[in-house]
Amino acid sequence: MQKFLWGILFTLVVIVIGAFLVVRGGYFNFSADTETSPLEKKIAMSAMDKSTERRAPQTSDPLQPTDDTLIAGARLYRDNCAGCHGDPTHMATQLGDSFNPPAPQFWMDAPDMPENENFYIIKHGVRWTGMPSWNKKLSDAQIWQVVTLLSHLDKLPDSVNQELQKPAPASN
Ligand code: HEC
Repeated sequence: MQKFLWGILFTLVVIVIGAFLVVRGGYFNFSADTETSPLEKKIAMSAMDKSTERRAPQTSDPLQPTDDTLIAGARLYRDNCAGCHGDPTHMATQLGDSFNPPAPQFWMDAPDMPENENFYIIKHGVRWTGMPSWNKKLSDAQIWQVVTLLSHLDKLPDSVNQELQKPAPASN
């Protein structure tokens, strides 16, 4: 039994050292246009889901989806997010698709996470992906406006859809 346990320990040490050498030796490919292995995808996605679940504030969206809130969210979304996540007239953006993992295209694949988790991701971003943290640029109140917009994409009033399609200011 003791020999068996030593065997397991030895194998684990060899795997850890092997992984370290592969990464340190530059054999791991970090380019965004290479396929991610199914194992890496599975581990990273479930780690990310669990981490978000654990850290997201346990609060529900404090805002009601009034036209004013949705229009404010639409403006913020159009100016900061649409280039990567798409809008009603650009449902699949080339830029969003060039990240690895790709930026979800919300008009084709609406965000299905709870609102407090969307809030957390928008505020803090996702390290090692193209998703920036917005806490320096947007206030919590503004982030909730965008979250409210994202949870109502399938039933936006015309005025909000029109706001989304107005050209974004040249610099923001
Ligand atoms: C430069 C490109 C870029 C910009 C700009 C950007 N995002 Fe992202 N976003 C990404 C990428 C890439 C991911 C995928 C991250 C991942 O898979 O873990 C992502 C993920 C997300 C997610 C998680 C979606 C899910 O279902 O996993 C949300 C919500 C989100 N972004 C909202 C926003 C909002 C709101 C804005 C604007 C305030 C924004 N993003 C701006 C690239 C961007």
